[in-house]
Amino acid sequence: MTDRYAVIGNPVAHSRSPSIHAHFARQTGQDLEYGRLLAPLDGFVVAVEHFRDAGGCGLNVTLPFKSEAHAWAARRSARAQVAGAVNTLRFDRDGAWGDNTDGAGLVRDLEDRLGVALAGRSVLILGAGGATRGVIGPLIEAGVARLTIANRTAPRAIALVDEFAGMAAGRLRGCGFDDAGDGHDLLVNATSAGLVGDRLPIADALFAGAVLAYDMFYAARETAFVAQAREGGCARACDGLGMLVEQAAESFFAWRGVRPLTAPVYEALRTELAAGVA
Ligand code: ATR
Repeated sequence: MTDRYAVIGNPVAHSRSPSIHAHFARQTGQDLEYGRLLAPLDGFVVAVEHFRDAGGCGLNVTLPFKSEAHAWAARRSARAQVAGAVNTLRFDRDGAWGDNTDGAGLVRDLEDRLGVALAGRSVLILGAGGATRGVIGPLIEAGVARLTIANRTAPRAIALVDEFAGMAAGRLRGCGFDDAGDGHDLLVNATSAGLVGDRLPIADALFAGAVLAYDMFYAARETAFVAQAREGGCARACDGLGMLVEQAAESFFAWRGVRPLTAPVYEALRTELAAGVA
């Protein structure tokens, strides 16, 4: 029987994951199906257990269920434990195993595809929600010298940083947008402001001094953050499609033990996105 996987979320119709995993499966000759699973907001666990009991092998988990997936998994990887969120479930014989591949996906996209080595860099993350939580650990492990989390609501950034203080003595700081400091090499947008096309109330000088502005959000057209970075004089700006492909590759590896090549899949996805292919 063909092995079955899916992405579970609410909403989930927009997810590019089925297309990405279909590319990976073709490329690596793996026999699998990958679909979309819309779970009711109060029905995550029932939907997961139904999928598993019907023979499903694993799931990607997207908004708003990543912390519920973390709580439900019987075992978790160290990085999922640190993030407090799970985006990948694998149904093993001895119970469900949860992983979080988001941060590794960001690091791999930055270092491998974009050629930005993170060791020794000063990184400014904008936003202090779930998207930020998933990437703090991997950025620290990649050796960044300074990691500043700036948020519209400053106390939320400060509280998040407090949670991670143990793993990043002296390198981590939380603040409001006005207090982000300067000299950051890399700016990462992890807010959801781009969903409604909002620009962030941050100084152009932050963009002008950075080597790269990276938007974790992606779209067929230029995102609001990428436009803001370009107009603010940033040397280079890009959206988060590469992170999406890389986190998917990490999940694929966790399920199948095979690491797909991501560069051709990134190119295919970019073309599909521009052409409006579902
Ligand atoms: P996610 O899990 O996607 O990160 P979240 O936990 O709701 O979602 O967090 C959304 C983040 O985007 C928060 O940092 C939020 O800032 P607040 O904590 O101040 O709410 C940020 N955000 C959302 N809309 C924004 C906007 N228009 N301008 C600036 N920040 C915004």
